[in-house]
Amino acid sequence: MKKRFTLFAVLLIYLLPSCQETNTKVETPKETHELLGYSNQEAWGEHLVATMGCDDCHSPKVMTEKGPIPNLAFRLSGHPAGEVVPSIDRSTIEKNGMAACNSHFTAWIGPWGISYAANLTSDPSGIGNWSEEQFIRAIREGKYKGLESGRELLPPMPWPNYAKLNDKELKAMLAYLKTVPPVANVVPAPEPPVTAMK
Ligand code: HEC
Repeated sequence: MKKRFTLFAVLLIYLLPSCQETNTKVETPKETHELLGYSNQEAWGEHLVATMGCDDCHSPKVMTEKGPIPNLAFRLSGHPAGEVVPSIDRSTIEKNGMAACNSHFTAWIGPWGISYAANLTSDPSGIGNWSEEQFIRAIREGKYKGLESGRELLPPMPWPNYAKLNDKELKAMLAYLKTVPPVANVVPAPEPPVTAMK
């Protein structure tokens, strides 16, 4: 009998806390929940920027045996000014609705002409002076420099996908971008198509 009682007592000790846990909702601190477990806004933003592939187009690359990888010294600095785009038959590309890019994936040729990936570092030639409002408008409405009067951003910037991000996510991304070491690089203006568009 004594043995049974001991067993019961032991079971009770182990089971009680777990019953309690399932009955009461464990509240995580609001702040932590909003940052999805990241310690601060910048760390969450870094995760978002890294997983959404911004480096694919916005970071110049170094070529390796396995293909191009981001050149971390110039991370997110956009198409390097002065980097010549290899000459290519643009009218064939445009007429056939094709696209081509350089080996940095920073210059894109297609029926829209040539677009150059922007500098997203904390330098003034990047997004260093941007407000949250500008960044949200650029991503959500696809407006150049996030200005109301800004032209529409060209392909292949996938802003219609990123437009689905909420304000907190976008603000976290900008907070992180503002910590990216500044690279002074004024990206060239886009070029119009060489053939008349139908
Ligand atoms: C597939 C390539 C590609 C990817 C991926 C990409 N971008 Fe872009 N992005 C571009 C290009 C090209 C431009 C320039 C478009 C233009 O000049 O109209 C651009 C422009 C921008 C601009 C506007 C800059 C300005 O001065 O107005 C912002 C902001 C931006 N990208 C942020 C991002 C962020 C943040 C990510 C990741 C979440 C990202 N981009 C991913 C290609 C890309």
